[in-house]
This record gives sequence, structure tokens and C-alpha cells, in this order.
Amino acid sequence: MIRGKFITLEGGEGVGKTTNLAFIKDYLQSYDISVVGTREPGGTVLAEKIRNLLLDKHSEAISENAELLLMFAARAQHIKHVVEPALAQGKWVLCDRFTDATYAYQGGGRNMRMSTIEWLEDLVQGALRPDLTLLLDAPVETGIERVRERGAFDRFEAEKLSFFEQVRRAYLLQAELHPERIKLIKADQPLAEVQRALIEVIGVLLK
Ligand code: TMP
Repeated sequence: MIRGKFITLEGGEGVGKTTNLAFIKDYLQSYDISVVGTREPGGTVLAEKIRNLLLDKHSEAISENAELLLMFAARAQHIKHVVEPALAQGKWVLCDRFTDATYAYQGGGRNMRMSTIEWLEDLVQGALRPDLTLLLDAPVETGIERVRERGAFDRFEAEKLSFFEQVRRAYLLQAELHPERIKLIKADQPLAEVQRALIEVIGVLLK
């Protein structure tokens, strides 16, 4: 059995991840590829519970270390029960956010040490890394406006603009550090253009 490919979709708030995720899934399926669509934090029963802990607002503040560890706890469950089994069965896994989000939000947004995240990445993932990461990038204000229009904010969406500027910068740094894996897609252009760019990048994996 040929191992499936692992594709992750990343980006700040309101860059159009949901729409484009559905588009990519349809596109891959049109090539008769069996695709498992999933997300982080979440993707299993337990990991979705951890997601709620992370996104809900609580009267007790979540410490930065607790936030980081909960992200990786959810990830450990997700990898063991969804990602690895699917890849081993030859399915492709399309994941809404993965560890680059930890580098961006906990590393960039919360200023946590990158070396700590690297350590947890090695512990939880072993050798597992995405085959391709699509990073949707747009100016912070554009995305935040879209989120505001949706209404109620979760614990992350309620952060200040400066937090999201740091998240964006950290994502762009990740793209610079891993140019062979992370492909930058300009998200502040017409949807048809975004999707043309996505097809071009995904095409390389289809060969
Ligand atoms: P979303 O997937 O609906 O955008 O919500 C997930 C939120 O969790 C989002 O604000 C980004 C945040 N997040 C982290 O802070 N670190 C992570 O490792 C992941 C996967 C998500």
C-alpha cells in the first residue's frame, strides 16, 4: 500500500480556510483520491473536547504552558487515531491547521520559545511532517473584519490586533524556514485567483 499524502492548510483568522478546504477536497476527489478532511485542534472525540477547552472563554485564565500542552495533547490523539491510520491506508489527509499554527499562535502570538515547540513536535509527531502546507496569507485587518462579521468571538478571536500581527509574522517566518514544504498563497485576491494558485501547487503532488 502506497502511503497517502498529508496536506495542511494554514493562515490567520478570516483568510478563507473553510471555503478553500472544501475546494481542495473536491479537487483531489476529482482525481479519484480518497481524502480524509479533518482539523486541529480536534478531529477525534477527545481532541474535540480539548478544542472546546481551548476555544471557550473561562473565568480561570489558561496559562500559556497549559495552552501549548493542550494543543499537543489534542494533536497526539488526532495523529494516533486519524492521521496515521488514514495515511497508512493510502488515504490523503487534508487538515485544517497543524503544527505551523502552534509556531504561529503560541510561538509568535504568545511569544513562547520555538525550541520548546520543536521539542514537543519531535515528541508527539516523531518523523511525521506534512508533505505540503498551503499558507493563506492576507493583511491582518482584512481577515479580522471577516471574523467580526461572523459575530461571537472565541478565546483566540478576541485577541488584540498586535497578537494577529505577530501570528502572521511567525507564519511568514515558518514559510521562509521551510520553503520546500510551505507554499505561500496570497489570500487577498479574487477567489478564482486563490484557487488557481492552489491548483498549481497541489499539481506538483499529483504528478
Ligand atoms: P479555527 O481552526 O477555527 O481557526 O480555530 C482554531 C483556533 O486555534 C485558531 O484561533 C488558531 C488556534 N490554534 C492555536 O493557537 N495553535 C494551534 O496549534 C492550532 C492548531 C490552532
